[in-house]
Amino acid sequence: MIDRRPSVAPDRRTEISSVRTFTGSAPGRPRRADVAALRRVVVTGAAGFIGSHLVERLVGAGVLVIGVDRRDPKRDAVASTNLAQVVGSAGFVFVPADLIECSVESLLLDADAVFHLAGIPGVRPSWGEQFAEYAACNIVATQRVMEAAVRLRVPRVVVASSSSVYGRTDGRPTPETAPTAPMSPYGVSKLAAETLCLAHAQRADSQTTVAALRYFTVYGPRQRADMLIGRALDAALGGQPLRLYGTGDQRRDFTFVSDAVDATVAAATATATGVFNVGAGHATSVTEVVRIAEELTGGRIPVSPVAARPGDVPATLADRRRAHEALGWAPQADLVSGMTEHLAWVRHHKESVSDTAAS
Ligand code: NAD
Ligand code: UGA
Repeated sequence: MIDRRPSVAPDRRTEISSVRTFTGSAPGRPRRADVAALRRVVVTGAAGFIGSHLVERLVGAGVLVIGVDRRDPKRDAVASTNLAQVVGSAGFVFVPADLIECSVESLLLDADAVFHLAGIPGVRPSWGEQFAEYAACNIVATQRVMEAAVRLRVPRVVVASSSSVYGRTDGRPTPETAPTAPMSPYGVSKLAAETLCLAHAQRADSQTTVAALRYFTVYGPRQRADMLIGRALDAALGGQPLRLYGTGDQRRDFTFVSDAVDATVAAATATATGVFNVGAGHATSVTEVVRIAEELTGGRIPVSPVAARPGDVPATLADRRRAHEALGWAPQADLVSGMTEHLAWVRHHKESVSDTAAS
C-alpha cells in the first residue's frame, strides 16, 4: 500500500504549541485511560512478552489492533504461545514484518496511535557482536517508525524505553529528571531510541506527540525466558538450576505486566510529550525473589553462583509521581500477588509442554 496523503500542511503547524516536553513535575490531574478514544492502533513487538499482553487488553476493549512483529506465530513457538488468545479475533490483524526493512508507512495508515514496543531487550547479551542487532532493531527501526508516524500525522506514539537508561543510582527512587548514564550497550540503545522519538515530536512539522515509557523489570505470565522471576519459579518447580549473577544483593523494581499495560494504555490517551517511569515503586533483591519463589512453590531452588554480569546495575527504583500526575497511573499488584499469578502460568505452561511432548 502506498500513502497518498500529503505531508503536513503548513496551516496545521500552529498546533505544535500544544506539544509539551516534560522537564519537571507534570501538571494536570490524574486521568483514567479512555480506550474508547482509540479506534485503530498499531502495536509493534506484538508477539513479544509485553506487546502480546497489550494486544490482548486493547482487543478486549474493542480496539482494532494491527500487530506487527518479525516473529510470526505461524512459525515461531514463543510468538504462537504469546498470541494464542488473540489470533483469529475479529479485532486483531497480524502482519509479519521486519521494521528494519518493511514499508512502515503502509502499516501505520489511519492509526490513532502507535505502540512501539518492538526491539531487542536484555541487558547482559548486549555486549560484543550482538550489539549490531540492538542498534538496528532499537535505533534504526525506531527512526523508521517515527519518520512514518510524523509523515502520516499519527497523533500519538507510545514507545518502550527502559529503566536501564539511568545506569547506577543511589538506591533512592529515581525521578525522570535524574541524569541518564546507561551502563550497558542495551541501555545506550534505549536512550538513543527515546531521544530520537522526542526529537521527532519536537520537529516544527510534527503533529505527533510521544510518551516514552521507562519500564522497570517487568514480570508476569509469558515473561521472556532470559529473565529472573520466570527462571526462579521454573527452578523451584524442578527445572534448570538458577544461575545467580553476582551476590544476589542487586535490587530491582519488579513491575507486574498488567500494571505496565495499564500505564501503556493510559499513555496513549494522554497528549503530553515526555518520558515517564513505569515501575511498581518497591525494590526487591534477587535473593529475596528466590526466597519468595521457594515459599510460593514449597520447592527448593538449586542456585549456582556465577560472576556478576557487566552492565547489571546494583539497583533500580522508580519515582512514580510523574506517571501518576500526568497519566493517572498507579500500579495495583504487589510482588507476592504478581508472582503468584506468574507461577500459575509457569505451572500451566510446563504441563501443556509436557502434554505436547507425550502425545
Ligand atoms: P520481547 O522480546 O518479548 O518482545 C519484543 C518483540 O519485538 C519480539 O517479539 C521481537 O520479535 C520484536 N522485534 C524485535 N525487533 C524487531 C524488528 N526489527 N521488526 C519487528 N519486530 C521486531 O521483549 P519484551 O520484554 O516484551 O520488551 C518489549 C519492549 O519493552 C522492548 O522494547 C524492551 O526493550 C522494552 N523493555 C522491556 C522490559 C522488560 O522488563 N521486559 C523493561 C524495560 C523495557
Ligand atoms: C530487565 C529486562 O530484561 C530489560 O529488557 C529491561 O530493559 C530492564 O529490565 C529494565 O528494567 O530496564 P533486568 O533488570 O536485568 O532487565 O531483569 P532480569 O533479567 O529479570 O534480572 C533481574 C536481576 O536478576 C539482575 O540483576 C540479574 O543479574 C539477575 N538474574 C537474572 C540472575 O541472577 N540470574 C538469572 O538467571 C537472571
